[in-house]
Amino acid sequence: MTLRLYIPIDAAAVACGAEEVATAIRGAAQRRNIAVDIVRNGSRGLHWLEPMVEVQTPAGRVAYGPVAAEDAESLMTALTGNGAHALRVGPTEDIPWLKRQTRLTFARCGIVDPRSLDDYRAHAGGRGLQRALSLGADAIVEEVVQSGLRGRGGAGFPTGIKWRTVAQTKAPQKYIVCNADEGDSGTFADRMIMEGDPFVLIEGMAIAAIATGATKGFVYIRSEYPHAVAAIEAAIAAARRSGLLGKRIADSSFAFDIEVRVGAGAYVCGEETSLLDSLEGKRGEVRAKPPLPAHKGLFGCPTVINNVLSFASVPIILDKGAAFYRDFGMGRSRGTMPIQLAGNLKYGGLFETAFGVTLGELVDDIGGGTFTGRPVRAVQVGGPLGAYFPRALFDTPFDYEAFAARDGLIGHGGVVVFDDTVDMAKQARFALEFCAIESCGKCTPCRIGSARGVETVDRIIRDENRGKNIEVLEDLCNTMKFGSLCALGGFTPYPVMSALNHFPEDFGARPRLQAAE
Ligand SMILES: Cc1cc2nc3c(=O)[nH]c(=O)nc-3n(C[C@H](O)[C@H](O)[C@H](O)COP(=O)(O)O)c2cc1C
Ligand code: SF4
Repeated sequence: MTLRLYIPIDAAAVACGAEEVATAIRGAAQRRNIAVDIVRNGSRGLHWLEPMVEVQTPAGRVAYGPVAAEDAESLMTALTGNGAHALRVGPTEDIPWLKRQTRLTFARCGIVDPRSLDDYRAHAGGRGLQRALSLGADAIVEEVVQSGLRGRGGAGFPTGIKWRTVAQTKAPQKYIVCNADEGDSGTFADRMIMEGDPFVLIEGMAIAAIATGATKGFVYIRSEYPHAVAAIEAAIAAARRSGLLGKRIADSSFAFDIEVRVGAGAYVCGEETSLLDSLEGKRGEVRAKPPLPAHKGLFGCPTVINNVLSFASVPIILDKGAAFYRDFGMGRSRGTMPIQLAGNLKYGGLFETAFGVTLGELVDDIGGGTFTGRPVRAVQVGGPLGAYFPRALFDTPFDYEAFAARDGLIGHGGVVVFDDTVDMAKQARFALEFCAIESCGKCTPCRIGSARGVETVDRIIRDENRGKNIEVLEDLCNTMKFGSLCALGGFTPYPVMSALNHFPEDFGARPRLQAAE
């Protein structure tokens, strides 16, 4: 009998020792003459259990975690006996944290072997592309428009409308570009999908190509993601070998191929026009719009540029239909969002659910409160440009408009939790310092404003003319918000002003209004 085990190859699991665990388990099995088939799957996204080892049983997979190399011997004893072990979590599909999710984009992540196209197909992979081929370009675009899918990279622009613009722009060459720069703090969903289910991204990009008439695609990944680069390159090679990419994709008349490009890891190179400059071999600098990338993008050609999650959500939309996807969510936020729970949390990881879940449910209930056990004080949602939310706003539902109404953003779905030891004046300073370091330098409000902002917060912290300097900071944020060319300078005021407005006590000994008098 061969024992089938699953040990993630995902970078987060590897960082927690998954390689050592796999080696130790192999050794323990050899010493006992037990045949093991170890599948290196993606992560299920329950990060506090990583490395999470699963064993295939007749009743389904059973999870153990977090497993260390030292546990290999006792685990092997358990797996060849009645299964009892101190690290046994139980049947994976019954773990409440996983069970209460709605996994559409992440349906296969952690389940399949990311290197096997056969396994992908055995788990409904490729069906979206097949239906797309039967529909034709216009109907694909219509399906994506009707699904209500909005860009998951941050801006939330309707994906179908973007595709329609490219489809309607006449040009001899068009491109599909996947934004896998994933620079937001506390985010890892793009990386997880690329490492755990890379074929879904390839399929989504191929559908975009058929819809718009593009023949060439690029995946732009930051260099800090070597595991994702390797996974996607292996998947592209496998897709080419099987005819999923190439001159006649899936035996159709459409040609499409993809190449990977590795960026050096500048935050601003995640901004779409800066990314295109970087792809063209230039220094990443934001371009003025118009022209939109959909009209004049990569090398001046019409270009679809979408986030990894946007492309990865398309196959299931095509497979199950726009109405199926649109049925999930609230308001104008349709479908599901792979939310990334990070920071000081007991249960951090990937939680995909329909839009509408409240921030409080995410932090207190799903995340289990802080890891340190101290009270939650602030939550930053949407990366380094997102606002800090105090507990008083925990009733905010995860929805683009609801967050915007409270001067926040959901961005790429990153949720970073802080306990009551956080100093919000330091966080405001950090936001401005981050902007100063990462600014592309093209426009003055961002380039100069961020540096002056750091100095101003320092003066406030030192209690130099506090009231006056708070006014200067507000004025500066206003100038950055309305005068910056892109969202790096334009949105940095969100974390700064939310820290100042919701946590005024951290900016002075007395509450802000009294201090300013
Ligand atoms: C400073 C800055 C950084 C950004 N970083 C990313 C990123 O890492 N990944 C991403 O998908 N979008 C990022 N964006 C958003 C992109 O500009 C763009 O909106 C996105 O790639 C469009 O794809 P989508 O419609 O699928 O979201 C960033 C924007 C700004 C202003
Ligand atoms: S806001 Fe900052 S990053 Fe954006 S274009 Fe201006 S200088 Fe560059």
